[in-house]
Amino acid sequence: MISIDLSSNTILITGAMGAIAEHMVKRLSAAGATLVLLDLKSEAEAAEVLRAWKIPDGTYVYHSLDITDSQAFTRIIDGAFERFPALDMVLGHAGGCGLHPFATTSESEFEHIFRFNFLAQVVLTRTVFAQWMKRKTPGHIIFTSSYVARVPHTQIPAYASAKAALENFARCVALEYAQTGIRANVISPGNVAAGSSLKVFDEDPAYREFVLRVSLGHRNSPESIADAFVFLCSPLGKEINGQILSADYGSGIGNRL
Ligand SMILES: NC(=O)c1ccc[n+]([C@@H]2O[C@H](COP(=O)([O-])OP(=O)(O)OC[C@H]3O[C@@H](n4cnc5c(N)ncnc54)[C@H](O)[C@@H]3O)[C@@H](O)[C@H]2O)c1
Repeated sequence: MISIDLSSNTILITGAMGAIAEHMVKRLSAAGATLVLLDLKSEAEAAEVLRAWKIPDGTYVYHSLDITDSQAFTRIIDGAFERFPALDMVLGHAGGCGLHPFATTSESEFEHIFRFNFLAQVVLTRTVFAQWMKRKTPGHIIFTSSYVARVPHTQIPAYASAKAALENFARCVALEYAQTGIRANVISPGNVAAGSSLKVFDEDPAYREFVLRVSLGHRNSPESIADAFVFLCSPLGKEINGQILSADYGSGIGNRL
């Protein structure tokens, strides 16, 4: 029997109240990890959600935060390291957007989608890597991308190009920090039958047709994405660095049959 014990790990997760994150938080908590959870939701809302998810008191801390506010983001990350000096894993998971066709997306909307999905992850990485270098921690950062980083689709040019930037950024820093023991990887879901894409999938026939065609009829479960995170966080994934792990039923291959 293989069992996964993360009781010596402290894991920071952004976007921790979301649909996919629910299963990440439940699984990582069940594996014994201490969790530092960040999300836009208020502390009161989060407390209620975490109670419903049965995450034991005392095994997590929660901060309400907008990750596009770089100063607040940096302050909260640095505070998390003061409280948990052994914080050794970071999941840059917050992201998403609805449909934003290029012609009707203003420059400031485009920039905001890019900041949320890409530049905020750069702020996260800069702050966390500085802490890990100072503390000589061989930490592991994992970002959440999407198959649309590699399979172009209409109506989401800002989101898709921000995720493409994120994937290459992760590979660049993985290479640059490889000698230090710090690792960077990416998990890239296909279309998940939950969360940010659900409304669009239900309401837009063109989007639905595209998704079902490239994924050969399969949508991912949020549980399977969470399993990919547990694997990469576990000792089973300890030699993996600079990789994009696609949990997408092959959608990222770009098969248009
Ligand atoms: N759902 C999908 O089909 C799908 C597919 C591929 C990739 N992804 C990626 O998976 C990740 C999670 O997606 P999801 O569908 O579970 O999302 P979701 O919309 O269910 O959850 C997103 C969470 O992020 C929080 N959030 C929003 N703006 C924030 C901000 N500025 N600062 C901090 N937190 C903020 C929200 O409160 C929410 O809890 C994203 O990176 C998304 O791009 C999702």
